Parts: sequence; C-alpha cells; structure tokens
Amino acid sequence: AFEQVPVSLKVNGKKYKLNVEPRTTLLDLLRENLHLTGTKKGCDYGQCGACTVHVEGQRVNSCLSFAVMHDGKEITTIEGLSKGDDLHPMQEAFVKHDGFQCGYCTPGQIMSAVACVREGHAGSEAEIREYMSGNICRCGAYTNIVAAIQEVKNGGQKV
Ligand code: FES
Ligand code: FES
Repeated sequence: AFEQVPVSLKVNGKKYKLNVEPRTTLLDLLRENLHLTGTKKGCDYGQCGACTVHVEGQRVNSCLSFAVMHDGKEITTIEGLSKGDDLHPMQEAFVKHDGFQCGYCTPGQIMSAVACVREGHAGSEAEIREYMSGNICRCGAYTNIVAAIQEVKNGGQKV
C-alpha cells in the first residue's frame, strides 16, 4: 500500500479533510472518496473533457491532476452549479436546446461551457467550437451544445 498524505479541499462550498495516496487524481477523489459521481471518467488521460471541474473558477481536466496539487483550493463540480432546486442558466439552456443525447459528456460540457462564457470565449460559433474543442461528445450533440452556449451568452445572465 502507498503512504497516504493529507489534503484539504473546499468542494461545492463544503470543507473536506482527507487522507489520500499521492497518486490519487482529483477525479478519483471526487468520485470515490466524496461520492460526487456527476463528474465523469471518459478516458482518464486528458482527451475527452468528461471530467471537467472548476478549480478556483478555472476549468481543469480533473483526471490529469493529482488531488494533493489542489490542497486548500476551492473546487466546483456539476453538483455545485445549481442553487438549491434552481438549475444554473447553462443547465437550463442545455435542457432547452437538447444539448445532450446519452448524457455522459454533459457534466463536463456544462462545466466547460460556463467557463467558456466567463472567459469571454463565446463570441461566435467558431470561437465556441474552438474553446469547447477539449470536450468530446460521441453522440455528436455539438450543434445543440453551441446553441445552448449562445443562448446563455446572448441572454446576458450571470454565469
Ligand atoms: Fe479526463 Fe477524459 S476523463 S479528459
Ligand atoms: Fe452522449 Fe455527449 S451526449 S457523449
């Protein structure tokens, strides 16, 4: 067995102190230690974006980073995006525009989409496609995903 090291994280507003192996990824910590299974494991090596979460508001592929690298940081997952029973505007837009089929890529798409708008990278369809290109959808729901992002961007809601 590997030695365990302490890590403190704030996830969706809640503080956690855990002991994990140094090689534990942020993705595995979220899914296996905290049972936040909304964040998906697609490829586990940075190629699909299904594992996208926000660290201090910036999107990251959680499969590519070790949990201990984020000691003391604030993490937001898809479970933390809505406010109580109210869906986040990006979640509402994905529902409205059918921005998913099987849904496996969707949590990562939505986390990335929110960041894309916040970063100011949703100015045109081409720009959205470029800045969402790290999020793969095997079902090919791209047109509807772009439509959802454009609605949020153009609606001017706070994301
Ligand atoms: Fe992280 Fe695919 S699971 S990028
Ligand atoms: Fe199926 Fe995107 S909705 S992978």
